[in-house]
Amino acid sequence: AFEPTLRPQYLHEYIGQDKVKENLQVFIEAAKLREETLDHVLLYGPPGLGKTTLAAIIANEMGVKMRATSGPALERPGDLAALLTSLEPGDVLFIDEIHRLPRTVEEVLYPAMEDYCLDITVGKGPEARSLRLDLPPFTLVGATTRAGALSAPLRDRFGVISRLEYYQVDQLAQIIERAAAILHIIINNEAALELARRARGTPRIANRLLRRVRDFAQVRGDGEITLPLAVEALERLQVDRLGLDHIDHKLLLAIIEKFAGGPVGLETMAAVIGEEAQTIEEVYEPYLLQIGLLQRTPRGRVATPAAYAHLGMEVPKR
Ligand code: ADE
Repeated sequence: AFEPTLRPQYLHEYIGQDKVKENLQVFIEAAKLREETLDHVLLYGPPGLGKTTLAAIIANEMGVKMRATSGPALERPGDLAALLTSLEPGDVLFIDEIHRLPRTVEEVLYPAMEDYCLDITVGKGPEARSLRLDLPPFTLVGATTRAGALSAPLRDRFGVISRLEYYQVDQLAQIIERAAAILHIIINNEAALELARRARGTPRIANRLLRRVRDFAQVRGDGEITLPLAVEALERLQVDRLGLDHIDHKLLLAIIEKFAGGPVGLETMAAVIGEEAQTIEEVYEPYLLQIGLLQRTPRGRVATPAAYAHLGMEVPKR
């Protein structure tokens, strides 16, 4: 069956990220007033906070189309050239995971961003010639979980750089209630708040929890999501009071039990719990750092006393 999109289409429907939203509103309005193409925008922050959604909203608000791709998908310069030459004037080109763009492709992007042109080499050896093609003006929206991993020349070519933050619990509750209305799910405010508290500041997780808890409500209850039902379902889903799942637990327990609380290096930790170092660094760690269960030191990761307390363990005396 058809499921309607939960993604907001316009800025006024987008909940949270108020500073980013207000600034974008101004830049979009100014560009429209001057009948110009919006300047290139870099969005960075942890996964699931709405970078792709914002890119689509930018295109909608500007009244243009969006073409979406990702850093790893653009393997060779020709891949990017094909996309750039197929744009219509003013279009948004969205590149997710832009920090994973190959170097050779990144170099094609510089003149495209700066002068809307494409430098291509035709022929080989002494016969090689350089051609310069004009491109339609466009807005590049780049997204990354790691702004620090971007090269300085690339970062410098963005006119707008916005950092997305973890959402507040009340904002996540609003997002859950909006999604519930769209999906015809009945959930009361205290249940929505409970899901919000366990959503790790992340709308993508909030909406995922909503769908899973709805399954329990339909099969085990009368379809309505109440607080006791939500709490029981979340326990079955192994999502604890802070929203930590079994991988977070594994990670913290490994630091505490195998490395006496740390410090332990990222690669060592990845090997011990059998997850990719990159996933740990970009998906799991940022939230554990944010809520103060983990600390990063020059010598590695350390579990904080709050982590011991959350797991019901005693901090060892040194
Ligand atoms: N769904 C996911 N993220 C959202 C947001 N920031 N606002 C409204 N709905 C959303």
